[in-house]
Amino acid sequence: MPATTGETGGRGWFLTFEGGEGTGKSTQIALLAQRLQEAGHVVLATREPGGTEIGAHLRRILLYETDATRQLSPLSEALLFSLDRVEHLQQIVRPALRAGKHVLCDRFADSTLAYQGQAAPRQRETIEALNRMVVGETWPDVTFILDVPASVSLARARRRGDVESCFEKRDITFHEGLRQAFLQIATNNPHRCVVVDAGESVENIARQIEEICRRRLGLFP
Ligand code: TYD
Repeated sequence: MPATTGETGGRGWFLTFEGGEGTGKSTQIALLAQRLQEAGHVVLATREPGGTEIGAHLRRILLYETDATRQLSPLSEALLFSLDRVEHLQQIVRPALRAGKHVLCDRFADSTLAYQGQAAPRQRETIEALNRMVVGETWPDVTFILDVPASVSLARARRRGDVESCFEKRDITFHEGLRQAFLQIATNNPHRCVVVDAGESVENIARQIEEICRRRLGLFP
């Protein structure tokens, strides 16, 4: 049953999944959603960018390189991802949480700080301020940071054979910097973030995530 009393006061839990490319976020979200549903919870799985209709347009603009996107500054990218986030929170995430659903979201504000902050280190504080303004009171209850060396995650992402987004085309140094940025976010937000070793097997990672949901949120018996 979704939480009806206690800490959430009837509101669902908000869980986000972060990490570099090929860290297995979507696999873990699907597994956790299934386990939660089996345990009787109501779950909504969503992602950024692209959880809303406007988000789907923004996703096409942001992820596939054109002359126009190549010229975008990291701050403009951050603003576009933020626009997507404002609408996603307003139209999808907050109503679902209010209805008692547990929301599992593939990427959120930490991705903007890690990716766009990494591309423009001097604007990190601006991006953090932007994140605070956009997210308001709706920070995740738990953020899972799936961590694996950049060489491993990039090889996995490429093996998946997806059309590479312009973010996936960046070099290994960028991706290793990205990994460090996510680890720093975890260090700075110890009450919210949990680093999960994504080099483990899919089953072991799922078990770790489930254990955290049990311990921190009481989601499983
Ligand atoms: P996606 O195809 O969803 O990749 P993944 O499976 O790795 O999540 O593409 C999302 C891309 O957008 C990914 O490269 C990270 C990037 N991104 C940002 O740069 N900033 C952001 O705020 C968000 C949400 C995503």
